[in-house]
Amino acid sequence: MTQKFISVAPMMDWTDRHCRAFHRVLSRRTRLYTEMVTTGAVIHGPRDRLLGFDPSEHPVAVQLGGSSPEELAQAAGICADFGYDEINLNVGCPSDRVQNGRFGACLMQEPELVGECVAAMKAAVSLPVTVKCRIGVDDQDPEEALDRLAASVVSAGCDELTVHARKAWLQGLSPKENRDIPPLDYPRVYRLKASRPDLPVAINGGIKTWGEIRQHLTQVDGVMLGRVAYHEPEILLGVDRELHGEEPPVADGFEAVEAYEPYIASHLERGERLSSITRHMLGLFTGRPGARAYRRHLATEAVKPGAGLATLREAVAHVSRATECQIPADAA
Ligand SMILES: Cc1cc2nc3c(=O)[nH]c(=O)nc-3n(C[C@H](O)[C@H](O)[C@H](O)COP(=O)(O)O)c2cc1C
Repeated sequence: MTQKFISVAPMMDWTDRHCRAFHRVLSRRTRLYTEMVTTGAVIHGPRDRLLGFDPSEHPVAVQLGGSSPEELAQAAGICADFGYDEINLNVGCPSDRVQNGRFGACLMQEPELVGECVAAMKAAVSLPVTVKCRIGVDDQDPEEALDRLAASVVSAGCDELTVHARKAWLQGLSPKENRDIPPLDYPRVYRLKASRPDLPVAINGGIKTWGEIRQHLTQVDGVMLGRVAYHEPEILLGVDRELHGEEPPVADGFEAVEAYEPYIASHLERGERLSSITRHMLGLFTGRPGARAYRRHLATEAVKPGAGLATLREAVAHVSRATECQIPADAA
């Protein structure tokens, strides 16, 4: 039986290397994904800046955007050399920019091409090659669209499918609306898993609590968390214990900040601004008294020249360390 797993979703502008290194402080086992990187950027762009990551981030997957099998194979090879643990293909993003490049969610309409892309990447690297998709786009019938995509990628050797359990509407909705408005259909993803017991399937979309995660894991192999992991990163503290029976690397948000400090210090020394790192930590302490003051302090002070670890410690000092938070957050 496949070991159950939790991952943090690829999120443009959010899951950059600092964000991933921070999430890693909260859980050794959670699988982390990069933001989507296009094949053009990987092949022609500043690779170290786009693909560089901290060794602590493992296991970490790179998500590629593209639809040319040759370019995806080349990009996958480059990413493998960088040391990524998995190559993931984006078949779910609906933005106009992506549609113009004929990749992302519109590839749901071209399952054979997606299969060719997967086969080309599999031939180029010995890493797991995975796909993240939707249940369909526009007026597609999700029963047929998802089955066809799954059939095509499985016969090409795809190692795992993550399904955002809603359609993407390619016209008329912004990418943000496309993450909320098309209705969620979890049973469709469960049926996919039931019909393909050998294919590892992860479910994504709108999952917010451990109760929900546990329920989904009775039906599928993995749960991918997006916005909740970013806005309430302490949810990741449960992963190692729930899925692997291991103690989390840190007990709470306070210990997480301490454990992350050496990473921050080393990047500040290299000239990085504090705010580019701490912007991913604003969701920490959600629900504790003082969380709002913590966020406000970081938002106003971390952008200032010279901001450093002392700024972060001052922000954390606003947060109550009482373990029982009966007072509504920020009520004081
Ligand atoms: C800010 C942001 C950026 C995103 N960027 C990507 C991306 O680069 N690639 C991708 O496959 N999905 C992207 N997504 C979609 C997420 O991976 C995920 O599928 C979606 O947020 C639904 O999961 P959730 O309800 O748990 O957030 C993005 C989502 C957000 C909020």
